[in-house]
Amino acid sequence: MKGIILAGGSGSRLYPLTKTTSKQLLPVYDKPMIYYPLSTLMQFGIRDILIISTPDDTPNIAKLFSTGVHIGLSIQYAVQDEPKGIAQAFTIGADFIGNDDVCLILGDNIFCMGEQLNTFQDEINDNNGALIFGYHVNDPERFGVIEFDDESRVISIEEKPTKPKSNHVAVGLYCYKSDVVDKAKSLKPSARGEFEITDLNKLYLNEGRMKACFLKRGTAWLDAGTPDSLIEAGQYVQIIEKRQGLKISCIEEIAYRAGYISKSQFKSIIDSLSDGMSYKQYLQNVYEEN
Ligand code: G1P
Repeated sequence: MKGIILAGGSGSRLYPLTKTTSKQLLPVYDKPMIYYPLSTLMQFGIRDILIISTPDDTPNIAKLFSTGVHIGLSIQYAVQDEPKGIAQAFTIGADFIGNDDVCLILGDNIFCMGEQLNTFQDEINDNNGALIFGYHVNDPERFGVIEFDDESRVISIEEKPTKPKSNHVAVGLYCYKSDVVDKAKSLKPSARGEFEITDLNKLYLNEGRMKACFLKRGTAWLDAGTPDSLIEAGQYVQIIEKRQGLKISCIEEIAYRAGYISKSQFKSIIDSLSDGMSYKQYLQNVYEEN
């Protein structure tokens, strides 16, 4: 299974924060935003990852993660020249995907799913077409809205409808078989000039090859694309981390606990950090505890 993080977009809703910095590099409490979606892919066991961003931002993101080998990953980079929609990630990433299944996550999406994450792993392995994830929100008209029957089978999916058929919306996490590349190539741009992920999903729905999993009550799906949602996401992470003394989306810790890196590789990461960093102290505590 391959993973793609789409970290594109101009971040115009966060201007001037994004005038010289990528949205996905802005802080969400104590880490750059893109750590969160990367950690979700890592927790799904996905280690072969393509990060797609803008021509300006890609080099900076590459500075952050390099090849990913230090955290047991293989990370490659590609550029989306213009913000032409989420579904374009599959044509940009066509060679990277090859004949593999692929999971796409948006670079500003933050998931705190708790134990439910493990059940999704089985769903991802059983996926025979498109697997999307739904979340109950108060303002469904801002998203791709999922209508489903009593047995959670998807009936329709509509992009930003004026009259939403449910409160459940598609989050920025999507899994597909490798035929997603050909399907993405067949799409036409929408009225807003984008290759829409919802149009792609409709192709699978029409073939009877789409499934939706729903995130449980009490789990968190946050995006961090506006000043309010950015600070709220930061506060959410701050509250949980301070209370538990455990970090959310600490990629080095995840790599170590998942066995992607050895204890000595973990120690090398810790030793490479300057003394006095609280992040270093946290990793040191994880190291000593195990
Ligand atoms: C996009 C998708 C939408 C989905 C949302 C999740 O919306 O088009 O279906 O619900 O991401 O964040 P956009 O960010 O383009 O408004």
